[in-house]
Amino acid sequence: MDLLCFWVGFFLFLGFWVVAFSDQDGFLSLTCGGTTNYTDSSNISWIPDNEFIATGKTTTISYIEGTSSFSVPVRFFPILQSHNCYRLPVSNVSFLVLVRAQFVYKDYDGLGKPPSFSVSLGTAIVSTIDLRKTDPWIEEFLWPVDKDTVSFCLHNIPDSGVPVITSIEVRPLPQGAYTSGMEDFPHKSLRKSYRIDCGNTNGSLRYPLDPYDRIWDADQSFAPFHVSTGFKTQLITFNFLGLKESLPADILQTARVLARRDALTYNLSLDTLADYYIVLYFAGILPVFPSFDILINGDVAQSDYTVRSSEVSALYFTQRGINSLNITLKSISFYPQINAIEVYEILDIPEEASSTTVSALQVIQQSIGLDLGWQGDPCSPTKWDQVECEGNIVTSLKLSDINLRSISPAIGDLLDLKTLDLHNTSLTGELQNLGSLTRLEKLNLSFNQLTSFGTELDSLVSLQILDLQNNTLQGMVPDSLGELEDLHLLNVENNKLQGVLPQSLNTESLEIRASGNLCLSFSTMTCNDFSGSDNSSIEAPQVTIFPGKKHTRHSNIAVILGAIGGALLALLILATISVMLYVKKRRTDVTSMERAMLDMRNWNSAKVFSHKEIKAATNNFKQLLGRGSFGSVYLGKLPNGRMVAVKVRFDKSQLGADSFVNEVHLLSRIRHQNLVCLEGFCHESKQQILVYEYLHCGSLADHLYGPKSKKVSLSWVRRLKIAVDAAKGLDYLHNGNEPRIIHRDIKCSNILLDKQMNAKVCDFGLSKQVTQADATHVTTVVKGTAGYLDPEYYSTQQLTEKSDVYSFGVVLLELICGREPLSHSGTPDSFNLVLWAKPYLQAGAYEIVDESLEGTFDVESMRKAALVAVRSVERDASKRPTIAEVLSELKEAYIIQLSYLQSRDI
Ligand SMILES: *[C@@H]1O[C@H](CO)[C@@H](O)[C@H](O)[C@H]1NC(C)=O
Ligand SMILES: *[C@@H]1O[C@H](CO)[C@@H](O)[C@H](O)[C@H]1NC(C)=O
Ligand SMILES: *[C@@H]1O[C@H](CO)[C@@H](O)[C@H](O)[C@H]1NC(C)=O
Ligand SMILES: *[C@@H]1O[C@H](CO)[C@@H](O)[C@H](O)[C@H]1NC(C)=O
Ligand SMILES: *[C@@H]1O[C@H](CO)[C@@H](O)[C@H](O)[C@H]1NC(C)=O
Ligand SMILES: *[C@@H]1O[C@H](CO)[C@@H](O)[C@H](O)[C@H]1NC(C)=O
Ligand SMILES: *[C@@H]1O[C@H](CO)[C@@H](O)[C@H](O)[C@H]1NC(C)=O
Ligand SMILES: *[C@@H]1O[C@H](CO)[C@@H](O)[C@H](O)[C@H]1NC(C)=O
Repeated sequence: MDLLCFWVGFFLFLGFWVVAFSDQDGFLSLTCGGTTNYTDSSNISWIPDNEFIATGKTTTISYIEGTSSFSVPVRFFPILQSHNCYRLPVSNVSFLVLVRAQFVYKDYDGLGKPPSFSVSLGTAIVSTIDLRKTDPWIEEFLWPVDKDTVSFCLHNIPDSGVPVITSIEVRPLPQGAYTSGMEDFPHKSLRKSYRIDCGNTNGSLRYPLDPYDRIWDADQSFAPFHVSTGFKTQLITFNFLGLKESLPADILQTARVLARRDALTYNLSLDTLADYYIVLYFAGILPVFPSFDILINGDVAQSDYTVRSSEVSALYFTQRGINSLNITLKSISFYPQINAIEVYEILDIPEEASSTTVSALQVIQQSIGLDLGWQGDPCSPTKWDQVECEGNIVTSLKLSDINLRSISPAIGDLLDLKTLDLHNTSLTGELQNLGSLTRLEKLNLSFNQLTSFGTELDSLVSLQILDLQNNTLQGMVPDSLGELEDLHLLNVENNKLQGVLPQSLNTESLEIRASGNLCLSFSTMTCNDFSGSDNSSIEAPQVTIFPGKKHTRHSNIAVILGAIGGALLALLILATISVMLYVKKRRTDVTSMERAMLDMRNWNSAKVFSHKEIKAATNNFKQLLGRGSFGSVYLGKLPNGRMVAVKVRFDKSQLGADSFVNEVHLLSRIRHQNLVCLEGFCHESKQQILVYEYLHCGSLADHLYGPKSKKVSLSWVRRLKIAVDAAKGLDYLHNGNEPRIIHRDIKCSNILLDKQMNAKVCDFGLSKQVTQADATHVTTVVKGTAGYLDPEYYSTQQLTEKSDVYSFGVVLLELICGREPLSHSGTPDSFNLVLWAKPYLQAGAYEIVDESLEGTFDVESMRKAALVAVRSVERDASKRPTIAEVLSELKEAYIIQLSYLQSRDI
């Protein structure tokens, strides 16, 4: 037999290690649920745990294992609390502590249901205990100390029984131990898998033999037996070569030695797939120099390693993503030998939340006066119920159905919040202390008693959802909300708001819920035009206002007016574009607006301008924007800095005084963000003057056909957006309003664009009014703009909303084809846009699409828009869609194009 058994006599050498650590400095040994101090057979002092934990119940378990019977106290946690924590003092010890905990079930409750639960140290979940698999269960961790206490918590797992624990031991470890070869060490913890005293076949070894009270297991159950032997030697002294782990001599004196040139293998199973930290210890206890290769899971981790006489050395390895471990020493020149092995699972320690965050949250908890169970770190190891985290960053705080009364300034310290939900928390007064939350996306302050928006909302630049329903907010919705570009839902339902929603709100991307207020309406005053029909237009009745939902063929309330010189619009637009003045956001005068809405007859303050004010605003009618058959339009600037267009009527186009005021009254009720707004009027010294919002970016016609130098090229998505906006404005005229209004002169030059390229329809209402005498003709003379005119109306003179749909269809065709409705160039076939484009578009032949759009549009988006355009210009009005249908088709086309563009960006 070539098995050799080395037996070197045993001679205990005491000197060097007992001195190093002879007493129990820094040991903490807790009997969980115990009531008395005691000293165990190893002379370790144990104390009860009740000073270190506030929760749980205690009992004593008696059980028999093998031939011994045990009686141990336990602490268990029957109340379903998410975690139950020990606070273990570790200050006075070292960089690294060993924490060992034992869990025993042994059916102490007679239910026969061993529990499963997880445990954490500090911010890290370090293990899941499953007493169904092993009972008792022992866990051991090496924890880097960074504070004077570490929390050790048991975490309930739903439906998995009641967590239970019997003992906790804390042992300081020597400085610098277990860090060699460890990356990112202070952020890692080690969970013991194996600690093997190689060559020892006679039970495990611990304090006082190991002064650090590590438990070293005998190796016979791991080692390959026929080929090697346990080995124990007598030593004089070891040279430790700077080994930090301070191994006791008793461990080093034993070795597993293979007495031939072969492989010595430790085959270790691991219970989780993870990264592992492996330490191999070698002590020169033989008179020869063993030399061998070390293979870990088949790979050479160290080649030709030599163990020298009386030297102690260690090798450290990190093995990533393994679930079994095979350590093989392969002989080269002499017998492979190993003295000790330690294997640890490497655990990440999540970073703690910033101290600012934690202290802010503590202040909030204090101010609430409720115990929310906010202990330790908000995010790790388990997050607090009321927060959400991304990593160690608190991004959401939800406190509802409690009594907060006011928004604590501490909330303003939670700078990373994306969601803040304080609904139903009895908040009163103004919305405050949130100005610093620039990352906030969702703010829910609903079901409180807030009375004011405060002044900070415009700082919340990332805000997407603002829910303020069922508060007692008063006054007007602040203009500054318009500065929140990402806002897509604003809920102010059931407040006491009044006035108009600010124009600054981008209603394309923003859904506004505003019902249940005193008197809150969409958009500002009414609308107008600065343009008229162009030269080719036929003098026409332009607007019909129906007093009710029913269609009245010829309105007698309504009122109509002659057209306006065409060059005017172009002039205006050119002027408009060239004026690049900064316009302050509109500040609406609350009181006058309210009064205006409540009682138009009391129009006698700010929105009713005196002639003097008009003169001042226009600098004595200095800058003419345009001139038409109805009068002249001047550029003006109100004392608040707002630019306006001031339209002064010629005497002959004036209405009777009553009609004028009545019409202003009527039109003032038309409010929509896609309709150009009336700022006010002046009715003085026989003058009828209207003051309108001034739009900086000209008309759609200008962008489609204006001089190249002024032309901003319009992408398909932008064209669709403009179409959607205009359709919304028109839809509001048709359906959103009593009386219903037919525009009658929809065309590209009546669709104006603001600085953000939002489109607004103008040229409806008073601008078209004619004197009573002229009005008698209105129903008999067909008027409108050539190229846009509904052929059915032309032939039947029956005016319906479908006439506007026809004209709008022509606008859509222009957007698609990039050409004017009537063209005098080209072949006679192509003279009329409708007749020319319809067959192509019906056939899905998009070669007639504006060439500047080529290759940039999604075909489905184009198809939707083209089909709805074609249907809108049906000769038979009854076959045309309603403007609402047109709008919804256009929205879809718009969305399709948007997602097409997004997918192209990716
Ligand atoms: C138990 O030990 C602790 C600390 O060692 C000591 O403070 C306490 O008085 C002891 N209790 C008893 C009952 O001896
Ligand atoms: C037990 O430990 C105490 C100090 O903790 C020490 O004074 C005593 O001598 C030890 N006894 C034995 C038998 O080691
Ligand atoms: C532990 O604390 C005691 C008193 O607080 C001090 O005397 C001792 O030096 C400390 N030990 C260590 C290792 O810090
Ligand atoms: C094994 O250990 C026991 C005590 O734990 C001791 O009595 C026995 O002598 C030991 N045997 C050997 C071979 O060392
Ligand atoms: C090691 O363990 C694996 C399975 O755990 C087994 O297949 C293999 O034979 C073992 N090898 C040795 C050398 O024990
Ligand atoms: C471990 O290594 C030995 C020798 O290389 C090999 O015989 C054995 O099959 C390996 N076991 C496992 C589980 O890899
Ligand atoms: C508001 O919270 C109270 C408890 O503070 C609760 O009784 C009430 O139902 C809650 N109301 C709403 C609307 O959630
Ligand atoms: C919200 O306000 C509306 C209108 O005042 C009221 O009918 C409703 O009950 C309120 N909802 C709650 C939950 O208080």
